[in-house]
Amino acid sequence: MREQFKVLQKNIIYVDSACMSLRPDCVINKIKEYYEEYPVCAGRSNHKLANTLVTEVLRARKLIQKLLNAKSEKEIIFTKNTTEGLNLVANSFKLEEGDAVLITEKEHNSNLVPWLKLKEKGIQLIIQKLNDDGTFNLAEYKTTLENNPNIKLVSFHHASNIDGVIIPAKEIIQIAHKSGIKVLLDAAQSLPHITVDVKKLDVDFLAFSGHKMMGPSGIGVLYGKTEELNKLDPFLVGGETVTDTTHDSVSYEQVPEKFEAGLQNYAGIVGLGEAAKFLMKTNPDKIHKHEVSLNKILTERLKDRVTLIGPEDPELRGGIFNFYIENIDMHNFSSILDSKANIATRSGQHCVHSYYNAKNLPVSTRISLYIYNTEEEVNKIVDEVEKVIELLS
Ligand SMILES: Cc1ncc(COP(=O)(O)O)c(C=O)c1O
Repeated sequence: MREQFKVLQKNIIYVDSACMSLRPDCVINKIKEYYEEYPVCAGRSNHKLANTLVTEVLRARKLIQKLLNAKSEKEIIFTKNTTEGLNLVANSFKLEEGDAVLITEKEHNSNLVPWLKLKEKGIQLIIQKLNDDGTFNLAEYKTTLENNPNIKLVSFHHASNIDGVIIPAKEIIQIAHKSGIKVLLDAAQSLPHITVDVKKLDVDFLAFSGHKMMGPSGIGVLYGKTEELNKLDPFLVGGETVTDTTHDSVSYEQVPEKFEAGLQNYAGIVGLGEAAKFLMKTNPDKIHKHEVSLNKILTERLKDRVTLIGPEDPELRGGIFNFYIENIDMHNFSSILDSKANIATRSGQHCVHSYYNAKNLPVSTRISLYIYNTEEEVNKIVDEVEKVIELLS
């Protein structure tokens, strides 16, 4: 399987997949196929090349529908990435002055800033506190909803990019729905690693990115239940989103086209379809198990040498091992791992500045595992981490 990820032949240990995953040959070949076989646009011209692309785009939509177990392929809207999907809902969901949106204290900037911006329109933003170890507290969440009847939308990360914790999404959604509240999930870090079944979850909206699930970058998806998408106003408008216009009126397309403005990232779309197929073939639940088994090794061997962010139990952290060491510059730490041992990690606040600031956490180094990492690699990582600790202490 590793042979399908050519960059691994460069003798690199790649553990930065929460930022961007590697892509297998089949995804790269599919992108190449687009540029070589039908490098045109879909939906405008009526010629053979364009018609082939229309079929390919529909195939990709259906593959993603299957991956999510969505009711219809029309519930799949192509976006640029998770960030655009979240912005689409933030801008189009009907919220009025005085309404509130609930997020957690551990959201990626992409699920914080669009809501912060709505404060300008008089929309309140409420922050759900988590347990000290970063896990979700259902009882406190219920209390928040009871105390804030103005909450109209809950927008939570499904899995965290800084500690890998997965929230109990099904229960969270059930509780919200009892009060007529809609739920948007940021699935950027869950979809690549676990089975995400939108019917079982009964989630109203869900956003994710191609580049974290072995697909191309610059392409993502916003899933929405048909009845919920129909209630949204289009966000970006222009070509492709309309059936007719006059100089002072417009008739919009149906979903999903209504939300897909302008010519699309067709290479990205067909590549994403292929990545969805690859993911289904691999079985996301097996990926999660594999990551946890590797994370157990990292945790067991490193837990006494570093300060870990998140719960100690690796079963709760999936493929994320995010840590810092007192009095050591973790940017420097990650650079040395890269330059001396060819180990690609990420250092920083991982776009969750608000949580780092609230908890007074220093910059950390994140090891994020995926399908292609091995036991041999994680043992080598531990050896090298120990060497860098010696060097910098
Ligand atoms: C939890 C989470 N949400 C949202 C995003 C934003 O994803 P993108 O930059 O692909 O829009 C990321 C990216 O790291 C993420 O980890």
